[in-house]
Amino acid sequence: MSAPERGADVARAAKVLARGGLVAFPTETVYGLGADASNAEAVARVFATKGRPRAHPLIVHLADAAQLDHFAVAIPDAARALAAAAWPGPLTLILERSARVSDAVTGGAPTVGLRVPAHPLAHAMLVAFGGGVAAPSANRFGAVSPTTADHVVADLGRDVDYVLDGGACRVGVESTIVDLSRGRAVLLRPGGLAREAIEAIVGPLANADAQAPAAPGTLASHYAPRARVIAVEPHEVPAAVAAQRGRVAVLAPSGAFAAWPALGALAHPLPDDDAGMARELYAALRDLDATGVDVVIAALPPAAGLGEAVGDRLRRAAGPKDEP
Ligand code: TXA
Ligand code: MG
Repeated sequence: MSAPERGADVARAAKVLARGGLVAFPTETVYGLGADASNAEAVARVFATKGRPRAHPLIVHLADAAQLDHFAVAIPDAARALAAAAWPGPLTLILERSARVSDAVTGGAPTVGLRVPAHPLAHAMLVAFGGGVAAPSANRFGAVSPTTADHVVADLGRDVDYVLDGGACRVGVESTIVDLSRGRAVLLRPGGLAREAIEAIVGPLANADAQAPAAPGTLASHYAPRARVIAVEPHEVPAAVAAQRGRVAVLAPSGAFAAWPALGALAHPLPDDDAGMARELYAALRDLDATGVDVVIAALPPAAGLGEAVGDRLRRAAGPKDEP
């Protein structure tokens, strides 16, 4: 598998998008695999490349919140308030879609996910391109999301036409998704914008229920590395290690390891703060896979701030791999 074209050429990325090609691009959360949202054929290639079921809709990325009314209708005040406060940033809003949004993007759903990413290269690419860019995370379906251009190339190789290289992602976990299409604000996926910051603007968020649309990020088996992941409370780590055979690694905040002097496992420390943990989580899971360990015992962080998203991803990585 030879390498795709790669660089920091925003004009080139916009040109590839305009002719229906696929561009992997950096956002502050994770790398996206982008296509012109108005080009059904290009969007179909995104699904094929990822190996993702067509019924799982893509987020449309915009240069500016001013484009909101082009892609959505019946926009509630809460959505405008969140867009004003959090964009550009790691927040996706689910809204009633306008007639301009193609079925290829939404899988026929009456709603669309919209987000204005904060990464300067993503912003420059979106400005140069001018339209909406439909993009899932730039990994094969079910795998850990990429937070560097190297991760993208390792996953997708030449199936992507251009890799816009913007370095390592600053936030490191996917955007928070809030559904505002059903009369109240529902948290569909915790992510890079903390629940507390959102609730300060729109009040308490409801949790996703049975009526919420099925989303791949909500499958228990998502975000899984090759190694088996076991997510436990920090005080349960030593017993969890002792119960394992094979090559075992422990993923935990660096400060926690002081309490475990004779762990008998490969130690992979993460930063002690929630934002640092989120930033380094996916690269850590990839690094651990590269060491060939069989099992990763992961310490769950407190659910405050970005800890909610980190805990969510660890639980999903630990979920059964045979889910659809
Ligand atoms: O941070 C992010 O959100 C990254 C970067 C690239 O922007 N994107 C991302 O995309 O994580 P993806 O496709 O891997 O996850 C998006 C999630 C999926 O679970 C999808 O089903 C859900 O958003 N989604 C998209 N549109 C939706 C809609 N109209 N209704 C409900 N869920 C939707
Ligand atoms: Mg994804």
